[in-house]
Amino acid sequence: MSETAQLRIGDKTFELPVIEGSEGERAVDIRKLRAESGYITLDPGYANSGSCQSAITFINGEEGILRYRGIPIDELAEHSSFVEVTYLLIYGRLPTQAELDEFGSTIARHTMLHEDFKKIYAALPKDAHPMAACAATVGTLATFYPDSLDPRDPRQVEISAHRLIAKLPTLAAYAYKHSVGQPFLYPLNSLDYVGNFLRMMFGNPCEEFEVDPVVKKALDLLFILHADHEQNCSTSTTRLVGSSMVNLFGTISASINALWGPLHGGANQAVIEMLEAIHEDGQTAREFLERAKSGDESARLMGFGHRVYKNYDPRAKVIKRACDDVLERMGIHSPLLEIAKELEEITLKDDYFVERKLYPNVDFYSGVIYNAIGTPANMFTAMFAIGRLPGWIAQWKELHEDPAFKIGRPRQIYTGPTKTAYTPIENR
Ligand code: CMC
Repeated sequence: MSETAQLRIGDKTFELPVIEGSEGERAVDIRKLRAESGYITLDPGYANSGSCQSAITFINGEEGILRYRGIPIDELAEHSSFVEVTYLLIYGRLPTQAELDEFGSTIARHTMLHEDFKKIYAALPKDAHPMAACAATVGTLATFYPDSLDPRDPRQVEISAHRLIAKLPTLAAYAYKHSVGQPFLYPLNSLDYVGNFLRMMFGNPCEEFEVDPVVKKALDLLFILHADHEQNCSTSTTRLVGSSMVNLFGTISASINALWGPLHGGANQAVIEMLEAIHEDGQTAREFLERAKSGDESARLMGFGHRVYKNYDPRAKVIKRACDDVLERMGIHSPLLEIAKELEEITLKDDYFVERKLYPNVDFYSGVIYNAIGTPANMFTAMFAIGRLPGWIAQWKELHEDPAFKIGRPRQIYTGPTKTAYTPIENR
């Protein structure tokens, strides 16, 4: 007999099924609780609530484990490529060479944007944040492709997914080019995914652009590390918005906005701004840390702490190594990396951080790499979005293929006034 949990409320006992995942994680299934007892559960921030069953990504926050479709992140970081990881996440298994080649060339065939996108960018202010521009233009894709908006047509979903994966780097690069007043560069499909993006970002029409293999490898790695992270804020947004049966473009536009916040993907921009501020103000790492510990929100140590990881973020481990490697091979001495390392060293021994299990997260080092390869800080989160896109798409597909599919609709405990008569304006 499968395990059950019992909940006693007053003199009544309710029997609740227990569900077990493939890695031994257990959940009490409360789906029938309200119907049977009149009670709901309350969990602000959903810190202890499962919203779905998923076969995509496994995280064990206590042990610092991250696996995509069962494969450990460090193995993927060492052997795979971002395009292969994209396939793995979306289709559920590693591709054969032939499948990978076909997938890569399908994506390459969709990289170009409709020429009218130039007019959309022309209407944006020069200082528009790239995340706002990306969310807007990704949403706008729905207006250009009304032929592929049905979330229940597998072919339409597939083609929307290909278009998104192919076009987001072009859209992000256009956002950057617009902000610096340089001409947009059309994609060059003889280059691979990351090389193409680098050229559209950093190239110009007057010169040949040579893709630096060290930079390309580092960016590919960052994209792999960001590709999925189970039910984080932007992915839960993907599932919640997607559950209304809106199309994939509209959903991903919402996901990009969710990622933008500084407590989520926006932390990578916030980290580099924090490191620069410490450097420019001539503060020591120790001085900054003391402010962070005082609860001063303006001095929160960005890039530290994680809702799930109560151990070293496994992605941060890989990135830290890559960061050293990139800076060394590019011959860059970064004072920001020195500050980052010093902050890490002190925090790992500091009672405040140790007690709260606050370790460096993925964003602590990613910004240093982006910075070293010449990326402006406001583009960091857009790069994160390119990396996270396959995860959002995989989760969106899984949601729609789930026999337990339902529109997402949490409940609440109302704490406002009880029934109150309307007061006419002259009596207020
Ligand atoms: N600096 C200083 N104190 C912190 C920090 C930090 N970065 N993070 C958490 N704390 C403290 C917090 O003040 C609280 O202390 P107390 O118990 O005394 O009130 C305790 O640690 C628990 O923190 P919390 O805010 O309840 O934890 P959470 O799970 O709600 O928040 C977090 C997780 C990531 C939002 C938070 O750690 C944070 O704001 N970190 C900085 C932003 C950041 O780096 N975000 C990127 C996350 S990784 C990329 C991604 O996947 O999005």
